[in-house]
Amino acid sequence: MNGLRILVVGSGAREHALAWRLAGEDGVARVIVAPGNPLMRVLADVRSGVGADDFDALLRLCLDEHVDLVVVGPEAPLVAGLADRLRAAGVACFGPSAAAAQLEGSKSFAREVCRAAGVPMAKGRAFASAFAAIEYAAELGLPLVVKADGLAGGKGVTMCATLSEAERAIRVALEVGQSVVIERFLAGYEASVIAICDGTRALGLPVARDHKRLLEGDRGPNTGGMGAYSPLPEVDDARLADVMKTIFEPVLVHMAERGTPFRGALFAGLMLTDEGPRVLEFNARFGDPETQAILPRLVDPLWPLLLAAATGSLQGCGPITATSEATVALTLAADGYPATPRGNDEIRGIDEARQHGALVFGAGVASDDGGVLVTAGGRVLTVVGRGSDLAQAADAAYGSAELIDFAGKQLRRDIGRTPTQVSA
Ligand code: AMP
Ligand code: GLY
Repeated sequence: MNGLRILVVGSGAREHALAWRLAGEDGVARVIVAPGNPLMRVLADVRSGVGADDFDALLRLCLDEHVDLVVVGPEAPLVAGLADRLRAAGVACFGPSAAAAQLEGSKSFAREVCRAAGVPMAKGRAFASAFAAIEYAAELGLPLVVKADGLAGGKGVTMCATLSEAERAIRVALEVGQSVVIERFLAGYEASVIAICDGTRALGLPVARDHKRLLEGDRGPNTGGMGAYSPLPEVDDARLADVMKTIFEPVLVHMAERGTPFRGALFAGLMLTDEGPRVLEFNARFGDPETQAILPRLVDPLWPLLLAAATGSLQGCGPITATSEATVALTLAADGYPATPRGNDEIRGIDEARQHGALVFGAGVASDDGGVLVTAGGRVLTVVGRGSDLAQAADAAYGSAELIDFAGKQLRRDIGRTPTQVSA
């Protein structure tokens, strides 16, 4: 075999981490990224002219470059049917069909699947009318959670301590979407569990936790994710095995029975409650920034798993093993993020951070006319520190993040520093 040619679709730090991991593995001849970002150029062939939503151009690229495997990062192209389009043309794609991606695309669909599969979630229901939703909210009791249906990039969830807050959130959610989900607020520890799935089998990746709120102590507005770490002291191998059995396996069985088998990375956002794990959400892809924390911990090559899941069967693969080291992944965000991120601020110090031992993955970055690296998006970089435990990994990550500078840089100081329990 001459080595695999892999196309990674997307442009963020998650895709940078995937490209970095895959490009470094034996058996991979070449990694192409579309549209990618300038920081990926040292390890991949970056096709900035090919957007993640330009299915014609992506397919042409696959055929022209004899791509053996496509790995899709973001949810939007999956929900829009990129995997269906590629598979129909005979191109192997790691990522679910549009129908299976509805697990992420529609929170009401995800609830329906959990109910049918007997998978535990927060008590709640979906509504198309504000009146019925408000009535149900009053019945459910406080605090509660209001979720807009449809893709919201992690930002469509409102915690409500009063019924008037709930009423407002319900009306806003129904202005942007067809339906709204009302859920009981759950207390516990959050965990992101991501599994590589072939339609019937699921192999769990090392578990991580992300922090979606902008400010320390999980306060402030929701963002796409301000940092993540792995492993979690609260989730040992036995607990992960239990999650695979009680959550992933029944969901896969149910999705296959519906005629929409899930092939790709299935991500369950869980709350570990006193009564056991509960599903908060599914995503139909790798997490961001979880992936940046998880991939450096994998012992064995990733590509054979992605190829097996995309083209046939994971039988005989796995289990996935992790190194004993810990990782802390910090998001460095632009001034004004998440509401109005500012662009065009010069970024300095990435080489110094790497010399300090960090992995630095690019997201909202661009080269200006003079070839200078500048900010160009909300989440600008992910800086990953490694260590023998979480405390050392956090010290390494923060030591490196200090070395990177751009005007208005925002980061949280508490990622990986304290186990975080969610309480009402
Ligand atoms: P989601 O997009 O559904 O994962 O929600 C975003 C964030 O809201 C989650 O990561 C949790 O921190 C929080 N969340 C969602 N649903 C609940 C719930 N039922 N109880 C407590 N927190 C929740
Ligand atoms: N970090 C959560 C997500 O990727 O949606």
